[in-house]
Amino acid sequence: MKKLTQICFIALSFDLVAQTQLVIPDTLSGPSYSLNMHKDSVQFFPGKKSKTYAYNTHNYLGPTLIFKKGTNININISNQIGDTTTVHWHGIHLPSKWDGGPHTPIMPAASWSPSFTVMDNAATYWYHPHMHMKTAVQAIKGAAGLIIVRDPIEAALSLPRRYGLDDFPLIVQVQQYDNQNQAMPLGMQDSTLLVNGARANYGYTVYANMPAQVVRMRLLNASGERSFNFGFSGNKQFYQIASDGGLLNSPYLTTRIRLSPGERAEILLDLTGMIGQTLYLKCYGSELPMGIQGGPTMPMPTGPPMDSPLNAVDYNVMKINVVAQTASPITTIPSSLTVNTPYAVNQANITRTIRFTADSAMVMDGPFYFNDSTFNMMRVDYKIPLNNIEIWKLVNQTMVAHPFHIHDVQFYLFDRNGTTPSPQEQGRKDVVLIPPGDSAMFITKFEDYTDTVIPYMYHCHILMHEDAGMMGQFVVGPSAVGINELKSDSHDLIVFPNPASDLINIQILGSAPYYLKVYDVLGKVIYSEQSSKEKLSINCSSWNAGVYTLNFERENNKIFKKLIIQ
Ligand code: C2O
Ligand code: CU
Ligand code: CU
Repeated sequence: MKKLTQICFIALSFDLVAQTQLVIPDTLSGPSYSLNMHKDSVQFFPGKKSKTYAYNTHNYLGPTLIFKKGTNININISNQIGDTTTVHWHGIHLPSKWDGGPHTPIMPAASWSPSFTVMDNAATYWYHPHMHMKTAVQAIKGAAGLIIVRDPIEAALSLPRRYGLDDFPLIVQVQQYDNQNQAMPLGMQDSTLLVNGARANYGYTVYANMPAQVVRMRLLNASGERSFNFGFSGNKQFYQIASDGGLLNSPYLTTRIRLSPGERAEILLDLTGMIGQTLYLKCYGSELPMGIQGGPTMPMPTGPPMDSPLNAVDYNVMKINVVAQTASPITTIPSSLTVNTPYAVNQANITRTIRFTADSAMVMDGPFYFNDSTFNMMRVDYKIPLNNIEIWKLVNQTMVAHPFHIHDVQFYLFDRNGTTPSPQEQGRKDVVLIPPGDSAMFITKFEDYTDTVIPYMYHCHILMHEDAGMMGQFVVGPSAVGINELKSDSHDLIVFPNPASDLINIQILGSAPYYLKVYDVLGKVIYSEQSSKEKLSINCSSWNAGVYTLNFERENNKIFKKLIIQ
């Protein structure tokens, strides 16, 4: 199970550390994008290749998508991985039917074509799969990529933005592989560091040549579970300029930035006058507290040991060689960036409290829950009226830290344990790490898009926790009345996609016999089935577009569900 034996072998048998130059993913610009998600493999370790998922010409990860705020874009995704998947645009504000959550699966060999208007502020976002109970296994195989949103406010600032020259995308991951060299979604013993998809520890170093001027780095923690405490060798200071969903009000001078899974940050590093020097981007794991994956190993009363060799140690992430300046270099740091205007606490219509819970206080490897209930595709946890301003209070009652992520919105964190958060966390965000025993509050507004059928998700971005049920969902409706039409109290039946066009997939929990009927608007039965199968696919390609009713009956359980055929 562990990679440690192999790691020692590598260290002993090679005198030289393999150095690879930082790979800068290619970019795709709109308004039309085409992504081919396919199976591939990479020789990460001696011996067996690791099976991967990737997009387009990549064999791991995918191209960087450049979105321009205010433009209408369309994306065509072709699913060639041989398994059902989804593609989610993490951090992007868009209609739920194009959000790529678990309710909009792309069947094997099928394609999916979201189209929407880019409404987000300039920042660094990302895309990754979000298939029900398979997010971890698909994402850690490499099916992820970056999104850079550009907007006029950012464009007017004197900032490095020449991609790959003075503006560097950095997808940092620590993954776990099994003894067959395959990505393993179980976690806790993750130890293989990858930077833009290249191995970067235990005998491997990734280096970047960066010019002797102000450079920008866009950091994404795309790990399944581990948090990073980034800094530079010699504790060199840098400026954080952006959080997940936008610029900070002004550059924040610091020596550390902690990023949990899913979080992004943009930083400026001043390399002026340092030509010929070398420094390292590091993870200062020794400074992380117990309870955050990456900090000290917690004694585990039961279950597998949490003994990743990267826990609680400082390690190099990437080597930086400072080289000659580019033409027209940026050499100064702007004093201000943008004006974020968080909603005032007294504008909130409601405060929702989400407690992070587990079966007992001793649980460290899950399952974890929100408010004691596990995720259910058929249960909508919150019905939110359009334009509601809401405070969400997150309370971690477990022994481990969880990065909380919400779809649809960017939020403003205004409280951590009763105090004002650091300026690093006062900008627009969509992930916030809540350490054990802590609480935090954010405020946000649910605007622009309504859909009473397809919900948006909120979940822990530790992918194993998400897949094991630490997830909930909400719909945003035009009014409370409209939203209440959605009857989704069944725990027995999962129907997807809905809306559908070719195939309706139905999963039935339990194996007792049932009757299933589909009625059209006139009440005519157009499909019926008596079965005890746990999975059904109904071909609906010949049905007219419109609203149908699915009637499921088993013993004294009767469920009616609205089906939409497109
Ligand atoms: Cu990055 Cu719902 O996920
Ligand atoms: Cu997301
Ligand atoms: Cu979690």
